[in-house]
Amino acid sequence: MTNSRRVLLGVLAASSACFHSVDAYWRMSCSIIQTGRLDPNVSPGTVSAHVHKVSGASNFGLSNTYEDLIASQCTSCEVQDDKSIYWTPQLYYQHTNGSLEEVPNGGTVVYYLGRGENRSKIEPFPPGFRMVSGDPYLRSNDTTSFTYSAGGNSGSRLVSDRVSFACLDSSGTIPEQNHMFRTDCSNGLRAQIQFPSCWNGQGYQLDQSHVAYMSGIDNGVCPPSHPRQLAHLFFEIIYGVNDINKEAGGQFVFANGDPTGFGFHGDFMNGWDIEVLTDALDQCVNDDSSNGQISKCPPLAKSQTPYYATNCPERKPIVNEQVKGMIECLPGCNVVTPGPDRAIQLACPDDTPSVNTVDDGESYTMFNPSIGQKLDGSKFAFAGCAADSGSSRTLSGHSTVADNMTIEYCTSVCKSQGYPFAGLEYSRECYCGSSFGSTTIMNCSTTSQMICAGNATQWCGAPNLLAIWNDTSYSQSITTLLVDTTTINNGSATYMGCFSDPGGNNRALSSDSLFDTVAMTNEKCASYCKSKGYSLAGTEYSQECYCGNVNTGALITDSSQCDMKCKGDSHGFCGGSLKLSVWSLTQASPSQYQPATLQPTQTASVQENAGVLRAANGTATYLGCYTDSASDGRTLAKDFYYSDSMTVDSCASYCQSKNYALFGVEYGGECYCGNSPKDSATVSTEEGCSIACKGNSTQICGGSSRVSVWNNTLYVPTRNLVAISGSGYTYLGCYTEGVNGRALGKGMSTTSTSYSTTDSTLTVEKCASYCMGKGYTYMGVEYGQECYCNNEGPLNGATKAAEGDCSMTCEGDITEWCGGSSRVSIYKANNV
Ligand SMILES: *[C@@H]1O[C@H](CO)[C@@H](O)[C@H](O)[C@H]1NC(C)=O
Ligand SMILES: *[C@@H]1O[C@H](CO)[C@@H](O)[C@H](O)[C@H]1NC(C)=O
Ligand SMILES: *[C@@H]1O[C@H](CO)[C@@H](O)[C@H](O)[C@H]1NC(C)=O
Ligand SMILES: *[C@@H]1O[C@H](CO)[C@@H](O)[C@H](O)[C@H]1NC(C)=O
Ligand SMILES: *[C@@H]1O[C@H](CO)[C@@H](O)[C@H](O)[C@H]1NC(C)=O
Ligand SMILES: *[C@@H]1O[C@H](CO)[C@@H](O)[C@H](O)[C@H]1NC(C)=O
Ligand SMILES: *[C@@H]1O[C@H](CO)[C@@H](O)[C@H](O)[C@H]1NC(C)=O
Ligand SMILES: *[C@@H]1O[C@H](CO)[C@@H](O)[C@H](O)[C@H]1NC(C)=O
Ligand SMILES: *[C@@H]1O[C@H](CO)[C@@H](O)[C@H](O)[C@H]1NC(C)=O
Ligand SMILES: *[C@@H]1O[C@H](CO)[C@@H](O)[C@H](O)[C@H]1NC(C)=O
Ligand SMILES: *[C@@H]1O[C@H](CO)[C@@H](O)[C@H](O)[C@H]1NC(C)=O
Repeated sequence: MTNSRRVLLGVLAASSACFHSVDAYWRMSCSIIQTGRLDPNVSPGTVSAHVHKVSGASNFGLSNTYEDLIASQCTSCEVQDDKSIYWTPQLYYQHTNGSLEEVPNGGTVVYYLGRGENRSKIEPFPPGFRMVSGDPYLRSNDTTSFTYSAGGNSGSRLVSDRVSFACLDSSGTIPEQNHMFRTDCSNGLRAQIQFPSCWNGQGYQLDQSHVAYMSGIDNGVCPPSHPRQLAHLFFEIIYGVNDINKEAGGQFVFANGDPTGFGFHGDFMNGWDIEVLTDALDQCVNDDSSNGQISKCPPLAKSQTPYYATNCPERKPIVNEQVKGMIECLPGCNVVTPGPDRAIQLACPDDTPSVNTVDDGESYTMFNPSIGQKLDGSKFAFAGCAADSGSSRTLSGHSTVADNMTIEYCTSVCKSQGYPFAGLEYSRECYCGSSFGSTTIMNCSTTSQMICAGNATQWCGAPNLLAIWNDTSYSQSITTLLVDTTTINNGSATYMGCFSDPGGNNRALSSDSLFDTVAMTNEKCASYCKSKGYSLAGTEYSQECYCGNVNTGALITDSSQCDMKCKGDSHGFCGGSLKLSVWSLTQASPSQYQPATLQPTQTASVQENAGVLRAANGTATYLGCYTDSASDGRTLAKDFYYSDSMTVDSCASYCQSKNYALFGVEYGGECYCGNSPKDSATVSTEEGCSIACKGNSTQICGGSSRVSVWNNTLYVPTRNLVAISGSGYTYLGCYTEGVNGRALGKGMSTTSTSYSTTDSTLTVEKCASYCMGKGYTYMGVEYGQECYCNNEGPLNGATKAAEGDCSMTCEGDITEWCGGSSRVSIYKANNV
């Protein structure tokens, strides 16, 4: 299967070396432009007798004039100045149940050869010149029809030699024959047809009497009746015969009911730009050095494109009947006639299918921007082409693929992603980037490109070639977000920093959310959360927005971790993966937040205030105004929340509920908890702490980069219960979790058991009673709320960890440690 797939593509690559003596020619690959019952040479204007596969000009229809062909938008052949059409019958495989399966084939390879004694006098085909070669009704070896003979070296040849078949098989060379003699060909079956090359100068005749074969068909002399030498045309069509499942039996049959191949035939109608054809015949068809390569024939090379198949794809069927895939009978009432007698064309009942008018689209011209030229209505300017490769993208920021790709679409995607450069590649691909490094810009007008899949008048690069557009309105300066300083939405939102977000069901801002994969901005998120009455907004992962009044995320001091550009704003950062860019929102009228009138004590020196000011019913004493910094770690960094109704008392009760030794208020609405100020924090003058609390304008809640620190006199130092009273367990230590299983999981023995539970009011004592009640020797507490028991002790690679690692308080008792994240505080029964 893969072999013949390769060959079907190989239709379009190098081919046979079946020519002798002189090898002056050019070889042109074509893909399919139309499949159906159409044959403008034999039955112009009507549905034809059998199905053809057509290559060439896109304006191909039921009947065609030279002008029709020349007016085509494109051709499915390599040379765009050739709007000729080339067609041959479709091949099917008839299964034993009678169903016919289309045999894959990718197109036609057309040869223009300089042959014959008179090859120096080859005339170009006149405009609209037409001819047919082959006989669709032949079913056996015709041994009676010969070409013209001039005697000697120019003797005659059997006309039936115009048709030949080559079975391309990996087993080796198999001599060609003039019929379909073998159809198991791992690399495909190649049908070949030679055309008459002599002309009598007269108009087209249905019986083809206006043309004649050279004496040797592909060489020799023209008969005196047809003295004018034409280029020698030769087609090759490769069929994927081994792509068909032939196991159950069946036979290959051409659309004209021919299972022998003797009736193979081909058609041509000239749609060349005559000047180009003339030049090419003059310069290339007698030049043996080009090896058939179009690229070496200047008149042809100038309109050569390697992307003919993409740029001029098969058109919508003109005849409304099914001719592809699996069909029940040969379209056009063709019966399979193996011969040897000539086949007879049966008349069809009057059920001719309807036909569509040829739709080759409105005439258009390609949009060929010059460097610096802007796309209509856009700030994007054309910057040229650049090489690209899949292993190292020239524009590496973002990419997308679409069947409707256009320059407009790609540039808008890149803009919304925050990139100044948009590159189109391979018709359907779009790449965005901030720079293209050292890659050199090339002049695209010297390279072939593919049309955009979504707009056939635009170029969209090529394989490994980017067509690059540059956003001339792009501003390099990305907004740097400064904690407590940067404001958006007319000052109603102030940046608070980059915070971690546990994600899942445990969002740091968990009250509401909004997603916008195209247009998310910090402004949009802040407006949304504000409209819902929340005091905090956070953007995450470039496109997510979360709202809430409490932020359970931890401040990340490395602000570059919130470095994803907002989907809707090239200049803004919208968090990161599980990182939130958090904004505090003012909800009421600005006047409410005017600085408070300072109380006399609050303006006093720290010495006077410290230890004197009390809050929270006397359970908190003021320690001083400390320096604080978002960028190198908070002064009190264990916990945090924000509220628009922040007071010293509410911060006190929050941190007291979690048993932190200290708490601090800052910038009016921020509350921090911790057990000691970080080492580098210093006590500053009281003037630094002069911002009123948002929830009580007569209280002071720190300042800008200043935190008012208070001592929680209710703090109880947290402890490990060395011996749990009333139970028989003694503390062993802090352990890591297991590698392949739980530290306190089941042991190896088949009788081994274990137990675990989670409890939102867990204490060490509670876990002890669970495990003791079930008779387990070991117990352990983890993550504040998990309890484990087993009989074997630490397993699965669990090892002793630093004691400080087990520093989560128990959910049911903030004065006890209950392990940590992947850390278990393990206890062992005393009596074992
Ligand atoms: C005939 O046989 C082919 C090959 O097995 C199968 O794909 C097709 O569906 C059959 N046709 C009908 C009408 O059953
Ligand atoms: C056809 O006839 C010619 C001349 O007799 C002979 O050389 C050739 O082998 C025949 N081909 C087949 C397929 O029989
Ligand atoms: C060559 O072509 C001329 C006309 O162009 C013709 O008169 C002459 O017979 C041809 N000679 C041969 C050998 O075909
Ligand atoms: C491309 O097609 C998709 C899916 O049909 C559609 O959602 C999108 O809007 C289209 N984009 C453009 C630029 O036409
Ligand atoms: C690109 O090549 C074309 C054709 O050769 C030429 O007209 C044009 O000036 C070139 N553009 C640049 C920017 O070099
Ligand atoms: C296709 O591209 C051309 C050239 O840029 C533009 O003028 C035209 O509006 C586009 N067509 C559509 C349907 O977008
Ligand atoms: C892109 O546009 C900007 C602004 O006009 C310009 O300064 C820059 O040189 C352009 N870059 C390229 C590669 O064209
Ligand atoms: C900011 O203020 C201007 C002028 O009052 C107003 O037009 C604009 O909508 C405001 N923007 C936001 C986001 O509130
Ligand atoms: C202070 O104590 C009073 C009376 O016991 C109580 O109602 C109030 O809630 C307490 N306030 C704080 C902030 O703890
Ligand atoms: C505001 O704070 C002051 C000073 O601590 C206090 O006396 C007053 O009761 C507070 N007001 C409210 C509404 O809590
Ligand atoms: C906080 O208060 C407690 C109890 O009054 C006291 O023991 C402790 O030393 C104080 N801490 C600081 C840092 O002043």
